[in-house]
Amino acid sequence: MNIIIVKDYEEMSRKAAHLFVAQLLNKPNSVLGLATGSTPMGLYKELIRFYNEGMISFKSATAFNLDEYVGLEKEHPQSYWRFMQENFFTKVDLPVERQFIPSGVAEDITLESYNYDKKITSKGGIDLQVLGIGRNGHIGFNEPDLKFEARTHVVKLDEQTIEDNARFFKDISLVPTLAISMGVKTIMQSRSIILLASGKEKGEAIMKMLSGNITPELPASVLQLHPSVTAIIDLAAASMLDIAALEDLYQISMPS
Ligand code: GLP
Repeated sequence: MNIIIVKDYEEMSRKAAHLFVAQLLNKPNSVLGLATGSTPMGLYKELIRFYNEGMISFKSATAFNLDEYVGLEKEHPQSYWRFMQENFFTKVDLPVERQFIPSGVAEDITLESYNYDKKITSKGGIDLQVLGIGRNGHIGFNEPDLKFEARTHVVKLDEQTIEDNARFFKDISLVPTLAISMGVKTIMQSRSIILLASGKEKGEAIMKMLSGNITPELPASVLQLHPSVTAIIDLAAASMLDIAALEDLYQISMPS
């Protein structure tokens, strides 16, 4: 794993955008794995800026999102479909027919999950996947203790995740308790992964992801096994790291 520690959220977003730009310049028809949450919003802003400046185009690309709440219609203000429309898809030239997000209202969610993985495979697999991280170490909506072999599936959300995400809803009782998420296996099959973390509330999860055992108790720890991960972490999220000890295990770059 390559670890880039940056000053703040803005620098994290810029560096992540640079990796996406490089990916698209190398392979315009890349399959991109996208994420929601507060963390990647700055990345999307930067990518939209690069697109508006004519540096990149998404017209040959394909996108697969990580997850969606079960029970929320596309147009629901808190659906991840809506998030992607508002924050990215309507602002770049990525064709609508190549924007994929699992449906949280499919009649048969198990079939929807199965078909989602099949679709990813049929498009050649994900070239570059961006991930945030939950305070409990989840990636996508893969909560602690799920099997690493899981492909796209329905997950029951942790109490902590529901509490964390309640800030986007009028009332905590309105936060869905289930989600459909790419599984750890689906994520691990991506050719390259960028993990982003900003803010001191992510400090413990980041410390455990990098310094702890590889265990389903901390889903992001599985990334230690992936051959091509870049973790871009701001100083606040890196505040619990013992950099000197980690330098034996990872390539680490510090802010200039
Ligand atoms: C959400 C999403 C994850 C995201 C994480 C952190 O529940 N399912 O994909 O990485 O929680 O969210 P945030 O970036 O808002 O801290």
